[in-house]
Amino acid sequence: MKLTDLRGILQYIPQFREKTFIIGVDGAIVTDENFANILLDVAVLRSLNIRVVLVHGASAQIKALADGQKIKPSNLDGSGITDAETLQLALTAANRLTHEILEGLSANDLRAACSNAIIAHPLGILQGADHLFTGKVERVDTELLQTLLNQGIIPVVPPLGFDGDGKTYRVNSDGVAVAVADALKATKLIFITAQDGLRHNDQLIRQMLVAELQKLLQQNSGGFAAEMLSKAQHAVIGCAAGVQRVHIINGRVDDGLLAEVFSNEGIGTLIYANEYQQIRAAKKKDVRAIQMLTKKAVESDELVKRTRSVIEKSLGDYYIFEIDKNPVACVALHVHAEQRKGELACLYVNPSHENQGIGRKLIQFIENKARDLDLNELITLSTQAFTYFQSKGGFAEGTPDDLPPARREKYDQSGRNSKVLVKKLK
Ligand SMILES: CC(C)(COP(=O)(O)OP(=O)(O)OC[C@H]1O[C@@H](n2cnc3c(N)ncnc32)[C@H](O)[C@@H]1OP(=O)(O)O)[C@@H](O)C(=O)NCCC(=O)NCCS
Repeated sequence: MKLTDLRGILQYIPQFREKTFIIGVDGAIVTDENFANILLDVAVLRSLNIRVVLVHGASAQIKALADGQKIKPSNLDGSGITDAETLQLALTAANRLTHEILEGLSANDLRAACSNAIIAHPLGILQGADHLFTGKVERVDTELLQTLLNQGIIPVVPPLGFDGDGKTYRVNSDGVAVAVADALKATKLIFITAQDGLRHNDQLIRQMLVAELQKLLQQNSGGFAAEMLSKAQHAVIGCAAGVQRVHIINGRVDDGLLAEVFSNEGIGTLIYANEYQQIRAAKKKDVRAIQMLTKKAVESDELVKRTRSVIEKSLGDYYIFEIDKNPVACVALHVHAEQRKGELACLYVNPSHENQGIGRKLIQFIENKARDLDLNELITLSTQAFTYFQSKGGFAEGTPDDLPPARREKYDQSGRNSKVLVKKLK
């Protein structure tokens, strides 16, 4: 691991300390060879004082057991009808999986306990069909789970619900994960699946506001693969219940859980309830972030290289666009007071946040600043985004003669041959 990776992780620590993460793992992942790595990642989360609850599914194992016994299960995921035979398969499969998880957690010196915290009643008769042993989560025994968490114990929750009469019902594990996240006011709900994330019409969704996901589900739920539809629906229910972030990641990717939690880009799909966005003046501590953000654009000659001291000298000119306190874009306004011109510079949007209008917002922000300062004209230099400034920012192509003399001198010396773009403000 590089030191910069460690720094990247450490910046999240204060934000997550003592917060609760619910991890919903598909049964197929519990028996995957990468599961040991996931538990190692859980150990890292625990070492950072993040409270973790593990909820697991069992459909893959129910299917395997049924195939082995040549039984046709009435339903696999706890959403359809569960007949008596299928309930027996579910009990065997779920208990085995819970045991495997407990074993794996022990191997990482983590204390864990399986509980009867899911209180369920029969789902009942829907459109004439008795769903028999399929249950509906009635409530979560929050106190029981909190007691375990307060003692540093990881609750392991199987896809089974219990009623007051000692009966067990098969419940859908995605629904359980959401109910637990709601009951414990979790910060994050992370679904670990056998897919890279949510795909709609075969396009991987990297990040999406919950309202947009809801719209997709209403307009074209068929665009989601059948096995992922439940994740999409439960992500929406989770956000509606107050969980700010729902992640859907591939459990077969090494380091996937940590990469998702501790990086801006993540590896799978992030559904977010709302976002805290703002443009703010850069501070001294942002100099590194500006350099890190723009590193790739400097390498590909889109932006000119700026040393730490160059940025520090004109730090007052820089602005940061942040989402949830993470810098995802930057821009600067250098003022050439004598000529009443402002230069928009160092506009950069992190590729993971491209095409969301952030670049346009930053151009508009700089334009407003320039107007506030009563400048006559905004100029910018670009090697590869000049059509962007023209079509999205209302700039027109100018010439190097539009640059103030001192700037012109630097331009000629640089040999970058950038295009000059101009926007009249008066
Ligand atoms: C150019 C850049 C700032 C755009 O940011 P962004 O937040 O993705 O842009 P927006 O969301 O506001 O706009 C997206 C639109 O611009 C278009 N666009 C993006 N980059 C473009 C480019 N280099 N040239 C032309 N159009 C471009 C997109 O295709 C999209 O078009 P659409 O709305 O018609 O689909 C960003 O890609 C970037 O940081 N590039 C590298 C650095 C750079 O060149 N900076 C400018 C020099 S100061």
